Amino acid sequence: MADRPVTITPPTFTVAIDGPAAAGKGTVARALAGAFGFAHLDTGLLYRAVGVKGGDPVAAARGLVPADLTRDDLRSLAAGEAASVVAALPEVRAALVDFQRRFARQPGGAVLDGRDIGTVICPEAEVKLFVTASPEVRAERRWHETGESIPYDEVLAQVRARDARDTGRADAPLRAAPDAVVIDTSDLSIDEAVARAAAVVRARLGAA
Ligand code: C5P
Repeated sequence: MADRPVTITPPTFTVAIDGPAAAGKGTVARALAGAFGFAHLDTGLLYRAVGVKGGDPVAAARGLVPADLTRDDLRSLAAGEAASVVAALPEVRAALVDFQRRFARQPGGAVLDGRDIGTVICPEAEVKLFVTASPEVRAERRWHETGESIPYDEVLAQVRARDARDTGRADAPLRAAPDAVVIDTSDLSIDEAVARAAAVVRARLGAA
């Protein structure tokens, strides 16, 4: 029988993916989770759930339950805006740290995507990726997602405003970890972006 390469996943293996909105990190994260059998957490959903809950955001973050993550309005532009406002509050972020770290270190491997996974939540992650794209390309993707129901310029302004809020906040600002591999998806197809990310994971698994 011909020799086949065997990938052995160590007991814990964390892939941390950060980047701005609509850069493609969620798509890359889901593809990696499927390809390598890792669990996946879209950490933006945590902040979106807190943002749409209303009331005191710190209490909402401390009392978050799994059912809050299944609301069907979490993917809206409004929920994204609300998320980036509450995400600037240090007490909200602190309330969500333990859950994310436990998820990251579960047996069998995990992929987490967000803004501060490689820098704050899992600085020890085996793989760190920073998935980005130009604001114009990201706005165009969002604009198509909304069915072009709002003017492109308005979506671009929202993308820029969210970038400014996420990169400018004092606590856990969006930035690439020094040891992150940067993947700029501006001129890449989904398949090309996923292939680059998978190559990084494969290389690290081979070395693990
Ligand atoms: O990734 P997504 O667009 O769902 O995130 C919504 C908002 O939640 C982001 O703009 C950001 O302000 C916040 N967020 C964060 N840290 C994360 C994930 C999301 O601050 N790890």
